[in-house]
Amino acid sequence: MKTPCTRVKYQPETDKTTLFRQSLLGWYDRNQRVLPWRYKQGALADPYVVWLSEIMLQQTTVVTVIPYFLRFLEKWPTIFALAEADTEELMQEWAGLGYYARARNLHRCAKIIVSEYGGRFPASQKELLALPGVGIYTSAAIMAIAFGKPAAVVDGNVERVLARVHGLSGDNKSIKKQVKVLSGGYYHDFIGRPGDLAQAFMDLGATVCMPKSPKCFECPVRSFCRSCVEGKIFSPSTSTQTKPKKETRRGFVYWIQNSEGDVVLHRRPESGLLGGMTGLPTAGWDNRKDTNRELGFIENFDVLELSERVTHTFTHFHLILELKVVKATARLTLPEGYFWCSPSDLQNQRFPKVFEKAYLLCLKDV
Ligand code: ADE
Repeated sequence: MKTPCTRVKYQPETDKTTLFRQSLLGWYDRNQRVLPWRYKQGALADPYVVWLSEIMLQQTTVVTVIPYFLRFLEKWPTIFALAEADTEELMQEWAGLGYYARARNLHRCAKIIVSEYGGRFPASQKELLALPGVGIYTSAAIMAIAFGKPAAVVDGNVERVLARVHGLSGDNKSIKKQVKVLSGGYYHDFIGRPGDLAQAFMDLGATVCMPKSPKCFECPVRSFCRSCVEGKIFSPSTSTQTKPKKETRRGFVYWIQNSEGDVVLHRRPESGLLGGMTGLPTAGWDNRKDTNRELGFIENFDVLELSERVTHTFTHFHLILELKVVKATARLTLPEGYFWCSPSDLQNQRFPKVFEKAYLLCLKDV
């Protein structure tokens, strides 16, 4: 802890939870972040809006999500519209947001809500949990924010806040376990504003009780915080546990163009990494046995190697792709999944980040 709070007194157990909630919610009313999926104080939000935003916010920052959320809502303003969406169009709109299984699950879930629930999200955590892509965190968020039910919503930010408030120590696993139990106490029997409470915890974690330099003097619940009072700050997410080193994979990415300027794109198979997403053709990196194996269907064409490389980091590995340029002719037969894209369509294409990087390099160099 860098800035111990010296003038605060630790609160006794009595009434602590009620006082804690009052302090936190009062602060939230004055300081909450203005976000497009938020409704007015105390108002229940549209479950569709909550679900859509929470799925997008899984492992993704608020700043990254906002433009995607707004575009989705404009294009598909209701669960009925989303259920009817063209899968490829939906995947295109998701391109760049990462974790593409979320987009496939989003579509599957929308279809189930329409076909089995008449377009209304069930107000039961058990039923929500059975939906594709909806886990404990997301189901709790929908219950609290959209249905006003006292479900404990615990993400990484909230975990850190509660670990500090309760002065928890031990390894990450044990802290997670303790937080799971303790978090229930803040929501138990709380029929007031559970959705706002959940989002107040999130905002506190994101703007005050940050991982590295928490602003304890601005904190509305510092008098309840054991870590602050005792002058030690504990961060589960920045503990000394070493993360396993990521492997580096290598491969090739191709810019295959004909004399009209059309470029070959590849719609990737549904399963696997970047499943169902459209990008430039690649080879090697997803074939661990033979990382030097290039695309078979360009064998008879001249290939020019560019000196620049595309680097990208996925959850479990780093990727380095060498860029190759092929001038194709009518002799080129494309296998299933590959197709020609005209220059005008190419401009409107949205790619996952790794392909966007390759595409921008090719535009610059070819
Ligand atoms: N992260 C996850 N859900 C959130 C929400 N509803 N508001 C802000 N950040 C979040």
